[in-house]
Amino acid sequence: MTTKIGILTGGGDCPGLNGAVKWVVKTALDPLLAEKRSRKFEVLGIREGWKGLVNVDPDDERSRALYLEPLDEEKVRTWDRTGGTNLGTSRTNPFNPANDRSDKVIENIGRLGIDVVVAVGGEDTLGVAYKLHKLGIRTVGIPKTIDGDLMGTEYSLGFDSALNVIMEEIDRLRTTAGSHNRIFVVETMGRHAGWLALQGGECSGAYIILIPEEPFSMQRVCDLLMERKGREIQYSIVVVSEGAQPSEGGEFYKDEKVDDFGHKSLGGIAGFISDQIQKTTGFESRYVVLSHLQRGGVPSARDRLMARWFGIAAVDMILNEDYGRMVSSLHGEITTVPMKDIINRIRTVDVDKYYDAERYNGKRTIL
Ligand code: F6P
Repeated sequence: MTTKIGILTGGGDCPGLNGAVKWVVKTALDPLLAEKRSRKFEVLGIREGWKGLVNVDPDDERSRALYLEPLDEEKVRTWDRTGGTNLGTSRTNPFNPANDRSDKVIENIGRLGIDVVVAVGGEDTLGVAYKLHKLGIRTVGIPKTIDGDLMGTEYSLGFDSALNVIMEEIDRLRTTAGSHNRIFVVETMGRHAGWLALQGGECSGAYIILIPEEPFSMQRVCDLLMERKGREIQYSIVVVSEGAQPSEGGEFYKDEKVDDFGHKSLGGIAGFISDQIQKTTGFESRYVVLSHLQRGGVPSARDRLMARWFGIAAVDMILNEDYGRMVSSLHGEITTVPMKDIINRIRTVDVDKYYDAERYNGKRTIL
């Protein structure tokens, strides 16, 4: 009996996705393991996330070549070393109420003979996987989001690589900030959760860190900078999450466009803060929006390892017929959680535990 796995990556790309695909393929097709199991596998890569399953015409050769890629061990051999997603991605939501194409996805899964769909993605992508599961499709999820805001897991692919980008870029900024005695405001991603800003700021020794979970007072930011003036150092790094908000209110969007899942593109808060600092304190201030650089580059050691473990566990789940669930990392162990418990929820920073709302920085008590 051969089980056909369809695998896709959805939502924002990041390092670690290719590794997860590689390890699903290698584990499923491993000849040694195959001898011990009663099941054989075939793995079909689906291009461009859910869009591939919406658009593919299984009877049309050109369409198949566009949206499908049969995967084998040789093809994925080097994938764990590369960033981005070799299968491509999209923010297509087949269940978008304004344009519901879920019937098409279910029909195509059947026509392609796919027995199980492995979806690698964040809350949006896995939300679709869960809805399909409820409609009778066998699905397994692998967590991915540089924002680290997925419930049910303490690690999601991409986070550590993004953190390293933030740290390296801030290291670079320090020399120029120091040479000119300037304030630098660094904007990180993190739509609803401040994990990237908080931990990126902490590992870079930022003076001020602003996160979506705790609205900030612009005056307090300026007071903190003025208090520091003339103390140990002549420049300061302020890290702000794209989703952070001043206590007076206001979110910062790049434009008014809304994606298939109802999200607008955030961006611009660093420029606002930098201007305000300059106006209020008179300190020279500049800003940098790290933006998609955080999703670029090769996977860090942690992302390679987690991608491997998550990919292997996804195949274990298929063998155990553990469907409608997501692989997860909890308390240092790889385990699984029901997808129904992770969707429509966000894993945010526990401010009482991790954030010092007075200093606007990571907490200085841990135990
Ligand atoms: O969802 C992850 C994320 O990295 C968010 O932090 C950010 O707002 C968004 O992606 C930007 O995505 P894009 O511009 O690629 O649609």
